[in-house]
Amino acid sequence: MSVPVTILVGTMTGNAELVANSVRDLLREAGHPAEVLMMDDLKPAIFAREGVFLVCSSTYGQGDVPDNARDFYEAIERAKPDLSAVRYGLISLGDSTYIDTYNHGGKQFDELLSVCGATRIGERMEHNASGGSFAEEDAVDWAKEWKTLLPQAVSA
Ligand SMILES: Cc1cc2nc3c(=O)[nH]c(=O)nc-3n(C[C@H](O)[C@H](O)[C@H](O)COP(=O)(O)O)c2cc1C
Repeated sequence: MSVPVTILVGTMTGNAELVANSVRDLLREAGHPAEVLMMDDLKPAIFAREGVFLVCSSTYGQGDVPDNARDFYEAIERAKPDLSAVRYGLISLGDSTYIDTYNHGGKQFDELLSVCGATRIGERMEHNASGGSFAEEDAVDWAKEWKTLLPQAVSA
């Protein structure tokens, strides 16, 4: 079963975009139409799309979402849309040297979408930039498992 996946990217220096493109390629090879959208000009109405969403965000400042994600994040926070029909996955990028705010960017998106009634599919993936592995390689490994959850996510 082919499930459309829209990948939403929050990034400062491009790691999350690399991750998103690698996961998009994996999903396409598996027969799922996947598209990568930068968060810059996105509105909450994007969640009316068919299929499943994959939020891919890094962390900046004091555990904040990246600059290009800020307007989108705040618009969702203000509007608090009913996202009960939304199914999403979450890839979060951070660095464990930021002890108190490790991976908070992705966590913030996860919490906000959950508050709006959306349901996460699978476990949140967290990448540690100080962990010695490449984010895009870890994400592709994670997505091999995650993609197996897609058919049941849209039929439930
Ligand atoms: C100025 C700055 C602030 C950061 N703040 C945090 C943080 O608070 N928590 C965290 O887990 N990672 C933090 N990071 C690490 C980034 O999230 C990590 O390097 C990530 O891979 C960057 O991905 P991107 O290129 O998609 O933005 C910070 C990095 C920089 C350069």
